[in-house]
Amino acid sequence: MLVTGGAGFIGANFVHYTVRKHPEHQITVLDALTYAGNEASLAPVRDRIEFVHGSVADAALVDRLVSGCDVVVHFAAESHNDNSLRDPSPFLTTNIVGTFTLLEAVRAHGVRYHHISTDEVYGDLELDDPAKFTPETPYNPSSPYSSTKAGSDLLVRAWVRSFGIHATISNCSNNYGPYQHVEKFIPRQITNVLSGLRPKLYGQGENVRDWIHVDDHNSAVHAILDRGRSGETYLIGADGEKNNREVLELILQLTGRPADAFDHVTDRVGHDLRYAIDATKLREELGWTPRYTRFRDGLAATIDWYRENEGWWRPQKEQVEAAYAARGQ
Ligand code: NAD
Ligand code: DAU
Repeated sequence: MLVTGGAGFIGANFVHYTVRKHPEHQITVLDALTYAGNEASLAPVRDRIEFVHGSVADAALVDRLVSGCDVVVHFAAESHNDNSLRDPSPFLTTNIVGTFTLLEAVRAHGVRYHHISTDEVYGDLELDDPAKFTPETPYNPSSPYSSTKAGSDLLVRAWVRSFGIHATISNCSNNYGPYQHVEKFIPRQITNVLSGLRPKLYGQGENVRDWIHVDDHNSAVHAILDRGRSGETYLIGADGEKNNREVLELILQLTGRPADAFDHVTDRVGHDLRYAIDATKLREELGWTPRYTRFRDGLAATIDWYRENEGWWRPQKEQVEAAYAARGQ
């Protein structure tokens, strides 16, 4: 199994999960170790995997690695909306050209491909909209990040239809859990509290995200690898809708801080209002169910992880906060 982006947040958790639950797989990780990649995230499984430092946009390297495997699970991406608003360029190279490069290799070698994508390709919903995203929802991405993810999904669909590659796609909602970079909402606020800094809420905090624990995302990916139908799209979500203010207040409560101990900061431009996933197809067709049904418990365990693993996140913290502060965030 070739896992791209395996030194990132979800990829590293996927590698841990696979080593633990599906030890029959021999794993090679391909990762460019950008600012978001951290080899230390793979330390607990380092002797069980092969690690290759390189880019998914390197056609010769990708062709060689794909020729030696049975399945590719493609996590590698530029993943942060705020960064894509500052400089979209690497998002085009990694998310579009990188996916194209992998598709050409799996086509040449007849290898099974699973594409990891996001619910953001569907745009956003009104707060009171009874509808949720389904596999039939039209694509309507808002940011440079989500538009490059949408573009990459469409490449996969075209390669299935035009060239008959054996591929599946999953679009998941917001993940939380260990090893998530401190630029992202939940780890940023936890590590702010642990650093004696005030958490930062964009705007009024009314935006809704549909939170899922990273292990539930990864168990769904394995269900799709095992039982998913080729050419199909599966939406992954665990009915975890919460607005940002509620999430922040829960972090403050779990860390023993007053409910108002945070700052409102400049909102994100083009900020998507609400995401919500209807995972009926995944649940009914593949029999998947999430394990982390109590957000409070999953969040408390995540806070404990950041408390116990300061050496993992501390080196990035100062630079990330300086970049946010420069933008009034
Ligand atoms: P991340 O930013 O934590 O990790 C990305 C990883 O990809 C890093 O290890 C980085 O070094 C690597 N990478 C970047 N460019 C590369 C390149 N050119 N070649 C090889 N490796 C490269 O991201 P994440 O949050 O773990 O997201 C992983 C995937 O899941 C992405 O495709 C993302 O779009 C998708 N996704 C994320 C979420 C979420 O909530 N985080 C939800 C749904 C889908
Ligand atoms: O929905 C899936 C997507 O979830 C993934 O495709 C992306 O890769 C992932 O980064 C995530 O995107 P978001 O933009 O939703 O996540 P982020 O953690 O950046 O922000 C979550 C919400 O919190 C969003 O409404 C913005 C808000 N926010 C974020 C930060 C960093 C704040 O209020 N304060 C902050 O400091």
